[in-house]
Amino acid sequence: MNRFVVGIVPIVVVLVLGSFLWQDPTIQNLGYPCALTADNAEGPYYIVGAPSKETFGATLEGQRLVVSGQILDYSCNAIPYAIVDVWQTDSNGEYYFDDAFTLRGKVAADENGLYHFETVFPGKYSESGMVRPAHIHLKILSAEDETELLTTQLYFQGDKDHDWLVKPSLILDLEEIDGTKYAEFDFVVSP
Ligand SMILES: [Fe+2]
Repeated sequence: MNRFVVGIVPIVVVLVLGSFLWQDPTIQNLGYPCALTADNAEGPYYIVGAPSKETFGATLEGQRLVVSGQILDYSCNAIPYAIVDVWQTDSNGEYYFDDAFTLRGKVAADENGLYHFETVFPGKYSESGMVRPAHIHLKILSAEDETELLTTQLYFQGDKDHDWLVKPSLILDLEEIDGTKYAEFDFVVSP
C-alpha cells in the first residue's frame, strides 16, 4: 500500500464515522444533551383514531400499572401537549377488536410535556410460535396535527421472555406500591 493510501484511510474512516454519529444521536450523544428514544416495530394491531383518555380498561381484571414521564426534544426542551398514542393487550395477552378502544387511547401531555396514564399490566402472547414479552405499544404524535414523531414499544424489567425486538433503553424499571405497579419513562423525539 502506498503512502497516499495509508495516509488517507484514517481520514476517510473519521469522516464516515463522524457523519454517521452526527446523524443518529441515539448512537451517541454527540452534541445532543438528550438521546432520541429508540424506535421499535409497530406490529399489526395499531388502530387509527383512538379517543383521548388517561385511564385504560378500568374494569378489567389484572394488576394496575401507572406510566408517567415527559416528552422532550433532543435539546431537552419539553414538547407541550404532545400526544402518547397507546395500544396494548389485556392481562391475558389479548388485543381487543370488538371493543377496540378499551385498551387503545391517546394520552395528552400538559403544557410542560408531562404525561400520565393508568392501565392494566399487559399479558404475553405468542406470535409465530414465539412468546412476546409484556409490552406496551406507543406512538408519539405532535400536538399541532398529530404528525407521527416516534413509534416504539416499552418493556419491563425482570421479564424472562425478552425477545430480539427488545432494546435495553426501552426496558422500564417497576416500583410496586399498594398492589399497583409504577413506571417512569421520558420520550425524546425530533419534533
Ligand atoms: Fe404487541
